[in-house]
Amino acid sequence: VDGHLQVLNRAPAMLLHLPQVLDADTLAEARSLLADATWVDGRATAGPQAATVKHNQQLAADSPVAARLQALVLAGFDRHALFFSAALPKRVLPPMFNRYAGDANHYGNHVDQAIRHIPSGPHTGQRVRTDLSCTLFLADPSSYDGGELVIADTFASPRVKLAAGDAVLYPGTSVHRVEPVTRGVRLASFFWIESLVRSDEQRRLLFDMDQALMQLRTRDGESAEAVALTGTYHNLLRLWADT
Ligand code: NI
Repeated sequence: VDGHLQVLNRAPAMLLHLPQVLDADTLAEARSLLADATWVDGRATAGPQAATVKHNQQLAADSPVAARLQALVLAGFDRHALFFSAALPKRVLPPMFNRYAGDANHYGNHVDQAIRHIPSGPHTGQRVRTDLSCTLFLADPSSYDGGELVIADTFASPRVKLAAGDAVLYPGTSVHRVEPVTRGVRLASFFWIESLVRSDEQRRLLFDMDQALMQLRTRDGESAEAVALTGTYHNLLRLWADT
């Protein structure tokens, strides 16, 4: 993936690169928390199909550092305007953390479960539809070989390996895999989002309109046309959003 290419393809199944979700200080804190963490077999949270191809480790859900790590990650996404514009989040599952290294170094082709339950906290048991998947890269890409996230069912099967602190947002419907890590350690956080707008196509139209509107405002200020189109954006959102 070209780090400068924001929208990785123009098909409805959009992959979006979200740069600098975590700053250097936050990244350093997350890495130091993960360095002392307890890791368990990743199959603990996989469905039956995925479990047959999943060979990685995950942070134990009851790990004492999990809550702090989740807060760091969610705060990064909360500040990220591009994430909001693209995901239009309604519910977000608590971020999880994984580790690919040694013998537990890959995850074969699979589709994520459509419905997941919030495992802990005030919304325990609440169902979340996984419209979008998000992976936040935490290790410096030069520190490990392999470990590309491959979105297998889009036109170009992009191979995604991003700078530490950057994330990729992609449709939950995608068949995807993580290639074997042959050197070093790949650390990442991942989570799912239920969007206010269920349809990838409608969400994509809103995203394109929102981005064009921001550019229009930057160029011309609050012109009458920008105000009118902003109204159209919100009226489409009202039409399509399910709160
Ligand atoms: Ni997956």
